[in-house]
Amino acid sequence: MSPIKIGAIEIEFPVVLAALAGYSDLPYRLICRSCGAAYTTTEAMLDRQVAVEIRRRRKMTRIDDADRPVAGQIMGTGPATMAEAAAGLRELGFDVIDLNFACPVRKVISRKRGGYLMDDPDLALEIVRAVIDAVPDRPVTIKLRRAFRASDEAHAAFWKIAGGAFEAGVAAISVHARSVDQKYSGRADWGFLAKVKREFPDRTIIGSGDIHTAADALRMIAETGVDGVAAARGAIGNPWIFRQARDLAAGREPFMPTLDDQRELILRHFRLASDAYGPKRAVRIIHNFGIRYARVHPHPAKTRAAFYHIRTEKDLLTLMDTWYR
Ligand SMILES: Cc1cc2nc3c(=O)[nH]c(=O)nc-3n(C[C@H](O)[C@H](O)[C@H](O)COP(=O)(O)O)c2cc1C
Repeated sequence: MSPIKIGAIEIEFPVVLAALAGYSDLPYRLICRSCGAAYTTTEAMLDRQVAVEIRRRRKMTRIDDADRPVAGQIMGTGPATMAEAAAGLRELGFDVIDLNFACPVRKVISRKRGGYLMDDPDLALEIVRAVIDAVPDRPVTIKLRRAFRASDEAHAAFWKIAGGAFEAGVAAISVHARSVDQKYSGRADWGFLAKVKREFPDRTIIGSGDIHTAADALRMIAETGVDGVAAARGAIGNPWIFRQARDLAAGREPFMPTLDDQRELILRHFRLASDAYGPKRAVRIIHNFGIRYARVHPHPAKTRAAFYHIRTEKDLLTLMDTWYR
């Protein structure tokens, strides 16, 4: 397991946290860091929203030195607004600027953002060039899907974007090995990741898709040759996946969190979320995450049901006393 390079930045362990809307906010990124994630990416932020976030000092663009190197991910359709957003994130201190050409949500596609760009390679490359010009001293990376749909033309668009982007100077490409129209269903095509790595042997490629466990992450690297792996759904509720991947890579038994470990981490997550958003919203956040944290509990169904009912901080503390002692 070798470190990965994103421009001049070295990431010491190649299993990293994927961009996850609704999940990879600063509190959860800090939680994943504490479990061994060496690199993280924010949730996708709309290009126009970035300027508003910065002006109003909102939470989405907050960074913390304990969470570095960190990529700020932006999504949009206009080269000029994307370039402006990238410059704003650079100013805030993001280490890497990541461009989302992968989001499959219908409303995003209909506004020619995210995954739409897999179908419009010329516009995608125009955005890439505008952003690189706007942030010459920061690595720029892109997140792609395997294609927009399963057709020869759509596959050709992937190669045009990937080749053109590397030529323009992107530092790394992340590939979610599903097509845009597949959304999140069906299997990710790891064979495609191997093809991408074969085509760009000297470039940094980060693979994504179907990483449910730490063993999957190591297997993706072994089977496809990608340089790094982004844990996405496999990291929601199991931030220990990073530590487990490090254990497996070192030939150790993977760490299994005890109930004490789980309680400590969930309460720490609650405190980080309270600091960021206030206690009321933090309870809602832990309600959502708790349902996911329950999967590593010895009684997942009952614990999930308990998280489902929490409405106040007191409910959360009672739940912790009941299920995590
Ligand atoms: C809830 C959720 C939110 C996501 N949000 C983003 C996002 O904001 N930006 C992005 O590039 N990918 C996003 N993704 C895609 C993931 O980063 C990843 O590529 C995808 O889930 C495939 O990996 P998996 O099959 O291991 O989950 C999201 C995925 C999920 C499930």
